Amino acid sequence: MSAELPQSELPFLPFALPEIGEDEINEVVDTLRSGWVTTGPKAKRFEADFAAFLNEPQLECIAVNSATAGLHLALEAMGIGPGDEVITTTHTFTATAEVVRYLGADVVLVDIDPLTLNIDPKLVEAAITPKTRCIIPVHYAGLAVDMIAILDIARRHGLRVLEDAAHALPTTLEKELIGTMGSDATVFSFYANKTMTTGEGGMLVTRNAELAKRARVMRLHGMSRDAFDRFTATVPSWYYEIVAPGFKYNMTDIAAALGIHQLKRIGAFQARREQIAAAYNNAFADLPLILPPQAPEGDVHSWHLYVLRLSDEASIARDAFIEAMYAASIGCSVHYIPLHLQPYWRDRYGLRAEQFPHSQKAYERSISIPLYTAMTDADVQRVIAAVRRIALS
Ligand SMILES: Cc1ncc(COP(=O)(O)O)c(C=O)c1O
Repeated sequence: MSAELPQSELPFLPFALPEIGEDEINEVVDTLRSGWVTTGPKAKRFEADFAAFLNEPQLECIAVNSATAGLHLALEAMGIGPGDEVITTTHTFTATAEVVRYLGADVVLVDIDPLTLNIDPKLVEAAITPKTRCIIPVHYAGLAVDMIAILDIARRHGLRVLEDAAHALPTTLEKELIGTMGSDATVFSFYANKTMTTGEGGMLVTRNAELAKRARVMRLHGMSRDAFDRFTATVPSWYYEIVAPGFKYNMTDIAAALGIHQLKRIGAFQARREQIAAAYNNAFADLPLILPPQAPEGDVHSWHLYVLRLSDEASIARDAFIEAMYAASIGCSVHYIPLHLQPYWRDRYGLRAEQFPHSQKAYERSISIPLYTAMTDADVQRVIAAVRRIALS
């Protein structure tokens, strides 16, 4: 029996879908009925729950309305500005880099390690100049960057480290959760397709009290007190001060209501993702494909993405592969079109593909296939059957 035939009669299997349960729905309804829909008690509770999840009492968790906002706030709080350089990977989403430009600083892109697809620490060190202030490693697909090497480079050169952990909940390295590795700040994303979701949202995590204080103020217009404190009986005051031209980056209680319950399920979500990844790894081992790198023994890969790469022996090209998957009613994607190919980044820094051979090669051969907890076992078998047929065609 083929799990994928007849193709035309199969419903479309999206590339990604969130899994929202009754607890999330009830909490959102409770929020709507409570009369407090913007930042308030649930956002505070979500921040506290997140700190408890990371199991670090000194950690400050600052809920924001996107990871992009969190990255921006962290760099702003570090004082990054014109004349500064920030080093990151070309193999990422533009959000990682655009925040550097918001502040008038410049982005220095470096290539990836071809095995892990994560930023190559050796290339980071080689890219350091007297203007370098910060490194932004991205835990690509949910596999931890070699943070030991990155933190060592940062310490030796007096640089800040901001982890883009948009893909990396609950990733570990040397059994430590990402977010607790000792960088200056880490930012998670709760966008709709991430390992947990608040619709849109993010969490900025830091042990640095000064950085946290600045980020909290800048999250809400540069106000010295947030709206919750202003309008509740505990601090009965209409008075606030604007200390800087801040942003509007606060997370609503409606979003936090989702986050509180999604976070409770993150262990179960990861286990299901791991199970699907293992099924794919087994089913694809004999195909002309490079399978995604695994987490080191004893560590956790969050499996935000499952990225296949066509090997030299593959007879089909990447675009044709994706078209054939769509013909089988299965959504796929490519992570990422590297920044060095994007007109804005390419033209601003005069970048050429030859400068990033590993990212370029990975891009040309990459296919991200569906991997999410809302997939049924039958969905997984359908993807396996389609990938096997297309890879062997
Ligand atoms: C690597 C990376 N960084 C940052 C972001 C931005 O996240 P958000 O959509 O929450 O702003 C994304 C989103 O897809 C991402 O993949």
